[in-house]
Amino acid sequence: MIPYEDLYQLNQTFMDDYRKSFDDSMDKGWYILGNKVSTFENEFAAYCGGGHCAGLASGLDALVLALRYFNFPEGAEVIVPSNAYIATILAVYHNGLVPVLVEPDISTYNIDPAKIPQAITSKTRAIMVVHLYGKCCDMEQVLQIAGAHGLKVIEDCAQAHGATFKGKKAGTFGDFGAFSFYPTKNLGALGDGGALLSADEDKIAEIKAVRNYGSREKYHNDYIGINSRLDEIQAGFLSVKLSRLQEINAHKRKLAAIYDQELNTNFIRPAVHSDYGDVYHIYAVRHPERDRLREYLLRNNIRTEVHYPVPPHRQKALKNKLGGAYPISETIHRTILSLPVSYCHTQEQVAHVAAVMNAF
Ligand SMILES: Cc1ncc(COP(=O)(O)O)c(C=O)c1O
Repeated sequence: MIPYEDLYQLNQTFMDDYRKSFDDSMDKGWYILGNKVSTFENEFAAYCGGGHCAGLASGLDALVLALRYFNFPEGAEVIVPSNAYIATILAVYHNGLVPVLVEPDISTYNIDPAKIPQAITSKTRAIMVVHLYGKCCDMEQVLQIAGAHGLKVIEDCAQAHGATFKGKKAGTFGDFGAFSFYPTKNLGALGDGGALLSADEDKIAEIKAVRNYGSREKYHNDYIGINSRLDEIQAGFLSVKLSRLQEINAHKRKLAAIYDQELNTNFIRPAVHSDYGDVYHIYAVRHPERDRLREYLLRNNIRTEVHYPVPPHRQKALKNKLGGAYPISETIHRTILSLPVSYCHTQEQVAHVAAVMNAF
């Protein structure tokens, strides 16, 4: 059976270094906000091309705290893609704000900048883009629209560690870049984790206080904070993984290139363009008979996933909250299929998947 993902296998390569980092934490006896968190924050900011980083407990917290930083009035509107992962939209609700869904471009699956202006009202305060599947949005157009309307820009980079647009890394375009280190991510921990990135040191200093009960100085609380600290032991694991992220992304690109080359034209493959350095967190194809294709692959010992089967506006939790019709999003959710493209897969496995697909 070719798994969709095998985290045990994926992490074997890094196990010796994880163990060294873990032993070091055990020897030092420092478990919360120590050297490993600050080291990782500095390393990750440097990897992304500069700026400052605050390690947090999850990607969702990163999105929630990024929006919260701006203290928008209750009921203010935030533009998000209609095919976003649910976390992006939950972050808007957790701040008492209103998500306004904008349809994606059917070829990139990312928010369509041409559709943003018509969604802007006097209540709009921010655009929250999602660099879905490991491909950056067209940030030139997003920033241009945001600048023209005085809107903040938050990038959901949970699937885009190291992805680039015109040579610049995801998370460095907007006011904040929000990252998740959920174990399956290209830069995944061995548990939960997240981070915010910003060019503005003051913003990150405030986020670091807010994540720790609003405290810059022990027992002195400047903000109504929360507990959303990146775990010290996970930060150690993340430094290990970060030192190999380039290799992980290169491997996934190599696998993606095999699919790109081998898959026949019955499958709609991911868009490829020289402006975009994609990192293929997910390699998604579209096919009109997605469910039958998925069953066929399973019968042939190939596991796949669907990211995502239900669009946000059809989720029970959001029923009667999100009006409007989202036909592009519906088409994507009905036809999309994620193929094995993990660091744990070999080129031979991926070539086999492509060959089995072509015989469908
Ligand atoms: C696009 C996107 N945004 C946000 C999140 C939330 O991250 P986390 O699971 O770390 O809270 C995820 C991860 O699952 C994601 O894929």
